[in-house]
Amino acid sequence: MRLSEQNASFEFRPNPAGLQNCQPVSAVACGKTIIVGEHAVVYGAKAVAMPLTNLAMGVSLTPLPTRQSPVFKAMIGGRNVSDHVLGVIEDAFRVLKIRPFSLELEGSSTILVGAGLGSSASLCVVVLKAIAASVGRTLAPYELAKYGNELEKRFHGNPSGLDTAVVAYEEVVSFIKGENPVPIKVSQPTGAAKWWFAIIDSCTRSSTISMIKVAEPWFTNGDIAAKIQKFNIASEQVISGLADGDANLVKLGMQTSGDLLKQAGVVSQQLQELIDGASQAGCLAAKTTGAGGGGCVLALLDPTHPQEQLAALKDIVGASKVTAVTLP
Ligand code: MEV
Repeated sequence: MRLSEQNASFEFRPNPAGLQNCQPVSAVACGKTIIVGEHAVVYGAKAVAMPLTNLAMGVSLTPLPTRQSPVFKAMIGGRNVSDHVLGVIEDAFRVLKIRPFSLELEGSSTILVGAGLGSSASLCVVVLKAIAASVGRTLAPYELAKYGNELEKRFHGNPSGLDTAVVAYEEVVSFIKGENPVPIKVSQPTGAAKWWFAIIDSCTRSSTISMIKVAEPWFTNGDIAAKIQKFNIASEQVISGLADGDANLVKLGMQTSGDLLKQAGVVSQQLQELIDGASQAGCLAAKTTGAGGGGCVLALLDPTHPQEQLAALKDIVGASKVTAVTLP
């Protein structure tokens, strides 16, 4: 069952505060990985990302009696959250135009923080889902994506909207900044039942905002239009490849965008070692995913013999760093 379907049947618990208009609820949001176009999307290129539904952030929201000004309490993974995260709750009330009420939020997450897998987007989307559900509202994916991106500004200034889009839609989406996300058709790859990818963790972390600053000079100098055009071609290759079951096209798109990201300066030594390891293991393509600098590499496996490649990859880079992901 998709996370959004589980989420549609919110579990209403008895209301301890005896509040009339808001209910205790639970909500969940997935992680994400970018197949092609990270960074370039900030400068107007088309990007493609897929949800990681085996990773999730879940929260339980309990309304508390509100006397004068509302009070927000939140714990994630058993720890009090920063004021930054409390600010996300405040922002959620504002963008949803819901009168703030006091609440307690308790959450847990399996999405690594600072690893390019959508932890901040997932937090923004899950907070929106929970607050809206608490007052009986269900948000459409496009609303979750739009409002989620407003909330993400707390984390990285001027996000493109790609991360919250894919987390909100829970589908592979193509995305251009300022436009609605477009869910894309995914067919079976030729000769196999599923697409197989591997997420390889460098076990180093980085902040998106600092990596955007690292990449900025490359994206804003030289022949900018030509660079964006190369990313756009790579995205179209990935979109057509997924739609037609053509692994070679997906491979070409991922390779091109990976090479361009290297030129933009966001591929650290550790990430490069993992990319080289994936190519040694025979993976069709491997590139940094997300902001880079640390975080993860996304590898495309040969869909006709993924298990052999996964085994080889685990041997080369270490089994604990590798997580297999399939599509659809
Ligand atoms: C980060 O996951 C993706 C970036 O393209 C930033 C953004 O799209 O806002 C690096």
